[in-house]
Amino acid sequence: MSPRRLRSQEWFNNPANADMTALYLERYLNFGLSREELQSGKPIIGIAQTGSDLSPCNRHHVVLAERIREGIRTAGGIAIEFPVHPIQETGKRPTAGLDRNLAYLGLVELLYGYPLDGVVLTIGCDKTTPAMLMAAATVNIPAIALSVGPMLNGWHKGERTGSGTIVWKARQMMAAGEIDYKGFIDLVASSAPSTGYCNTMGTATTMNSLAEALGMQLPGSAAIPAPYRERQQVAYETGKRIVGMVEEDLKPSDIMTRDAFLNAIVVNSAIGGSTNAPIHLAAIARHMGVELSLDDWQTYGHKIPLLVNLQPAGEYLGEDYHHAGGVPAVVNQLMGQGLIREDAMTVNGRTIGDNCRGREIEMPEVIRTFDNPLKPEAGFILLRGSLFDNAIVKTSVISAEFRERYLSNPADPEAFEGRAFVFDGPEDYHHRIDDPALDIGPNDILVMRGAGPIGYPGAAEVVNMRPPAYLIKQGVSVLPCIGDGRQSGTSGSPSILNASPEAAAGGNLAILRSGDRVRIDLRKGRADILIPDAEIAERQRALAAAGGYRYPASQTPWQEIQRRMVGQLGDGAILEPAAQFQRIAET
Ligand code: FES
Ligand code: MG
Repeated sequence: MSPRRLRSQEWFNNPANADMTALYLERYLNFGLSREELQSGKPIIGIAQTGSDLSPCNRHHVVLAERIREGIRTAGGIAIEFPVHPIQETGKRPTAGLDRNLAYLGLVELLYGYPLDGVVLTIGCDKTTPAMLMAAATVNIPAIALSVGPMLNGWHKGERTGSGTIVWKARQMMAAGEIDYKGFIDLVASSAPSTGYCNTMGTATTMNSLAEALGMQLPGSAAIPAPYRERQQVAYETGKRIVGMVEEDLKPSDIMTRDAFLNAIVVNSAIGGSTNAPIHLAAIARHMGVELSLDDWQTYGHKIPLLVNLQPAGEYLGEDYHHAGGVPAVVNQLMGQGLIREDAMTVNGRTIGDNCRGREIEMPEVIRTFDNPLKPEAGFILLRGSLFDNAIVKTSVISAEFRERYLSNPADPEAFEGRAFVFDGPEDYHHRIDDPALDIGPNDILVMRGAGPIGYPGAAEVVNMRPPAYLIKQGVSVLPCIGDGRQSGTSGSPSILNASPEAAAGGNLAILRSGDRVRIDLRKGRADILIPDAEIAERQRALAAAGGYRYPASQTPWQEIQRRMVGQLGDGAILEPAAQFQRIAET
């Protein structure tokens, strides 16, 4: 029994309102819960279930929920499991990015409108993690996250095959005639040997690691592979702990502070985290009411070295990350340099400093020490200029040659300048990229627009574009790319992405024309169109007179509704009207 009167008792035990109490109670009795249980004052704990046959990455949560329940019951709580709108990153058309805010909205309604005192958030596949943390922030009842864990390592002919990353290699092998259609599918499928989420450092491993760095899941739990026995054991511990959190009234607002977000930014650089992380952390912070800007990524994240040797930036996969020590070993390295705000509170009631101090690296080839990193200065660079208000570059995947030429040598003021080739959405790119008439050269820049939250609802992961086939044959395997869309966390492309505002929201990418020259200065953080201001103004006038940048019509009701309310990637791409609702369980 909890020392406080819990919010669930407003539903289940309110003598002043016997009518409603009876109505609320009777239907929860019909599957076997008893009046004694529901009126006992024991915490009612929700298990927000993201697993289902539609969401294979998170499907193992259906099994883990049994252990969560046993933990809740052991600690004296009552478990109520309910479904959350499923999200499958690779299976959802046109993009799973569309569904993050939908799952958020749904979960807010459930947490606010039902008799729940605390909740276990079953996180995993890319967007499920931010969606659930965003909802927990808005409602602000005690909440703890449980990662479903990565898949086991994939293997093919004695080599590790990693989620997403293997697709790039398989494409080359098929193009070279080394494998056929069936061989292609077999090779890609070898990267998915078990239940769990992507085993590379894609958006899933990134966001699950950051949920731990934020303090929202038990220390050491993010990296445990889905099929391991420890995954079941930590599910039990998570269930037990949420009951204690309700008793202590330990809420998301006590944990997801500005210090916690700055810790997450630092950890993201050290793990080589996804370019989706700034979008999702911005969204969570805004729903939590915490100040966090893209400048914070530059200020606190850019100089941090890359420590974790996982594909796509490195060699290893999820099982190795866990055996090497996972998030606590990374945090301990960063703590040694004074880079972690050690007093930040976590779900276990202890600080992140107390949780991670002394957690040693167990496999030095997988997690490097701070003195022997894989790459220096591995965080994002923030760009501004006449092309957009903000965009980012992931420096941990920039080639050594490109880094040396445009970033590392302060004596050489060289900036990158080239002709832009502009594509309006992924379909336009696929139709035209190999057309020799475009005459794209080795010093040109590919631009993708119409791919932001409004232009391509949810924002497509399409900014990393391969050069035309005729250039690849000449040995040019990468061209700089700029775009108002996103990029898959499993891609190693050095793109300038998440450009805000997008073309469809009036950003200057909309007035760019193929053949215009563009100048990128990574050292100064600038990206500019090299045309006179008067010409820019004239093009803006002409575009406005023509009714603005055109994009395809919505295909579903939600696409249309979200387009009318969604903000830009630099601001988290949240539903803007939702930002005013904060900590609503207190209202
Ligand atoms: Fe679900 Fe990667 S597709 S985690
Ligand atoms: Mg993705």
